[in-house]
Amino acid sequence: MTDLSTTLGPLRLKNPVMAASSEATMTEDGIRACLDAGAGAVVAKSVNESPAAARQLYIADYALLGDDGDPVEWQQRTGGETLLCRSGLASRDGWLEMLKRANNHARGLGAHVFGSITVADPEPAAEIAREMAEVVPAIELNVGAPHGREARAVKQITGPEMVAQYTRTVRDAVDVPLIVKLPAQADSPQALAAAARDAGADVVAMIGRFNGFWPDPLTSEPVLGSWGAVGGPGMLPVSLYWVSKTFAADRETPLIGTNGARSAADIARFLLSGARAVEVASAVLLNGPGVLGNLVTGLDEVLAAGGYTRAADAIGAAVDRARAYADIPPNPEPLRPWEET
Ligand SMILES: Cc1cc2nc3c(=O)[nH]c(=O)nc-3n(C[C@H](O)[C@H](O)[C@H](O)COP(=O)(O)O)c2cc1C
Repeated sequence: MTDLSTTLGPLRLKNPVMAASSEATMTEDGIRACLDAGAGAVVAKSVNESPAAARQLYIADYALLGDDGDPVEWQQRTGGETLLCRSGLASRDGWLEMLKRANNHARGLGAHVFGSITVADPEPAAEIAREMAEVVPAIELNVGAPHGREARAVKQITGPEMVAQYTRTVRDAVDVPLIVKLPAQADSPQALAAAARDAGADVVAMIGRFNGFWPDPLTSEPVLGSWGAVGGPGMLPVSLYWVSKTFAADRETPLIGTNGARSAADIARFLLSGARAVEVASAVLLNGPGVLGNLVTGLDEVLAAGGYTRAADAIGAAVDRARAYADIPPNPEPLRPWEET
């Protein structure tokens, strides 16, 4: 058996498989199902101070795109589709009590529930964080929601100075570990990670989903009838790029990987790129929370097959083997593999 335990700053996780914040973690039942399936930690659905952000959930919609790009009915899904959606946030009514009960359940399983805030303004985020810190062991501050480009009720922060300002404001309000979740769409998520760290983040989660748009060639209608946020297997190399570059520049700040993990091998890919844990949302929404247990079991097998007895030893191992372009010896002739039969 592989030792799957990992750490995020002062927090110990029994395994690196986390349920990411999403509609799958928006109710106590949903969170408990993720915990019962074996997740090392669950990030609850985000809230913020804006009633409009919670109302936005009532215009939410979720489309699946198959390998050929055509929409797939939810009943026909295979589980590997790309998810294009509009989403909103949870209502704060009874939220803290729910988080407290869910985290008590988590403790009985050696796991954790983290609270989550998808930001609108920094000071109210700090106030919500202060309340949450009474009932959960850590808080994730999502400064990068792609919906921030479409709706005012949440903000997508893409510059280092603003990331630092949001991080510092919330950091000053709480003593519990603070995870700052960064956007995919920034000039350099690596620079944002450094800004979050310098402003007091204990852990950095990267990278959020992208904004997306998908017209149907037969009807000329955009799928969902609007712009949206997108994530899918195709995003994984991009997520791994930024995790690995951030790890290469700073091996001390714990990283959580997110965006694109669908299988146990993908979880291992995130670890090998430098993440200490991995947040999974789409696979849970598409396959149900039980998939988290499969990911944990599968990760044990994948790491063992790769020669690891401890997940901790895999963290960043591929980064150590990656060469700079300048260090790659030239071929005698430029390669042309597309001409090979
Ligand atoms: C329907 C949906 C709702 C989401 N809601 C939130 C949210 O409220 N807060 C947040 O930080 N991330 C949210 N996310 C982003 C996920 O937490 C996760 O980081 C992202 O989907 C990438 O992981 P994946 O490839 O496993 O889906 C949401 C994602 C989806 C698909």
